[in-house]
Amino acid sequence: MTQMRLCLVLGLASVLGALPSLAQDSPFAEQPYQGTGNRQPMLLALADLMSLAQDRHIKLWQAGKANHYALVTYEANKLSDSLYRAASLYSNIPVPLVKATDEALMRISAAADKRNGAEFQSAFRDLTIACNACHQAAGLAFVKIKTPTSSPFTNQDFTPNQ
Ligand code: HEC
Repeated sequence: MTQMRLCLVLGLASVLGALPSLAQDSPFAEQPYQGTGNRQPMLLALADLMSLAQDRHIKLWQAGKANHYALVTYEANKLSDSLYRAASLYSNIPVPLVKATDEALMRISAAADKRNGAEFQSAFRDLTIACNACHQAAGLAFVKIKTPTSSPFTNQDFTPNQ
């Protein structure tokens, strides 16, 4: 019985010991130092925030393709927010690489204000390039973002309101 308990404790310790190394898959994903006694894991891992950014990248593209500019503006704001959150939670992330995505997102919003499809597409291309530039800098050249060819969001209507 005691031996079994010891096994459990050792097992748990090895799982917990493995966690920090998991969180540090990329040097940018290393969590900021939070002071002693306050070492709880982040609620959202960087990769989780990135998966949300990936969803929004698709929604943004789909809204732009459908000329649904109110939704384009909304998704551009949300994506910008996700990336800023990522940068403020994870102190190693280089700010210029976040700014590059933000500049593209600002051009996307400007294109939406003008309802200009060509400008939207050009800014969207630059956004995707900026996503990949950071992945390359982070040693994650294998996470390759591209312009979507279809969308998994079949439960959302992307056509503009009349
Ligand atoms: C400033 C840096 C930076 C920018 C900009 C950035 N990423 Fe990332 N991304 C990362 C890092 C670092 C990781 C690795 C996180 C990890 O593994 O802990 C990552 C991982 C990912 C992943 C893999 C997550 C998974 O669980 O499969 C996806 C997808 C992703 N990013 C999408 C995007 C998209 C889409 C954009 C642009 C809209 C973007 N990223 C912009 C730094 C960035």
